[in-house]
Amino acid sequence: MIAESLARPSMNEPVEWTDGGSPRSPRFDDLYRSRYGGLAQARAVYLAGCGLPGRWQGRRDFTVLETGFGLGLNFLCTWAAWEGDAQRCEQLNFVSVEAYPVAAADLLRSVQSLAAMDGDQAPLLARVQVLAAELAAAWSEWSPGLHEIRFADGRVQLILAVGQVLPMLARLSSCQADAVYLDGFTPALNPDMWSTDTLTAMARLCQPGATVASYSVALAVRETLQSLGFTVKKRPGLPPKRHRLEATFERLRVTAAAA
Ligand SMILES: C[S@@+](CC[C@H](N)C(=O)[O-])C[C@H]1O[C@@H](n2cnc3c(N)ncnc32)[C@H](O)[C@@H]1O
Repeated sequence: MIAESLARPSMNEPVEWTDGGSPRSPRFDDLYRSRYGGLAQARAVYLAGCGLPGRWQGRRDFTVLETGFGLGLNFLCTWAAWEGDAQRCEQLNFVSVEAYPVAAADLLRSVQSLAAMDGDQAPLLARVQVLAAELAAAWSEWSPGLHEIRFADGRVQLILAVGQVLPMLARLSSCQADAVYLDGFTPALNPDMWSTDTLTAMARLCQPGATVASYSVALAVRETLQSLGFTVKKRPGLPPKRHRLEATFERLRVTAAAA
């Protein structure tokens, strides 16, 4: 029995590590995060891009939807920001779609490798490393489908939607997102994560006033978001990127072709 289970191939997505300590996907030939600072990217592009922590303050609950859980860094930084905010909402829901979950060991290696790059953010890094250990302890070899994991006495709920982005967004029809992190690999290498169908499915899950953030300001993405009913802005990016994307949802406008 033991030999059999040891011989079973792992279902985990392989991650390669560059000499500089950046995680890279051999499947997509792209990095999981900015080589110039994973913590800085999570905070400046995603949290600030969605108006967090301010937008969850005074709320009973708040829901973040993410395309691409990857190494969980955006989740961990969001959890750390929530935890450190005296005015945080009662309940934080983080719903993330991921087709190719990585191994728990890579979640841990990811936050260990941040030390050198984000050394000026020592307190946040220390906290993210503690939270990553909690995440890794709850981690599994996920089968396709929806998985719920609770942290912080149940006040932080992670829903991992394991599977291809489009069918999983369709399965999340009861999700009412207040904020969306668009974090597929670069659109040229990972078009499914940025297609009109995917962005339309994402928009269907947004509440009026929901904010969207991304490192990508690809013209096609901006135009599609605009056509769906988002007000889109290019903001100064995290160097060396010149821009990042911020968008606010007004109401859904779906063309006949996308309906
Ligand atoms: C840039 S990484 C996400 C990084 C992550 N947000 C973090 O904080 O670590 C992009 C992720 O999208 C996932 N992905 C790519 N194509 C996908 C698809 N068609 N459906 C679902 N997930 C996909 C990849 O496996 C990868 O984990």
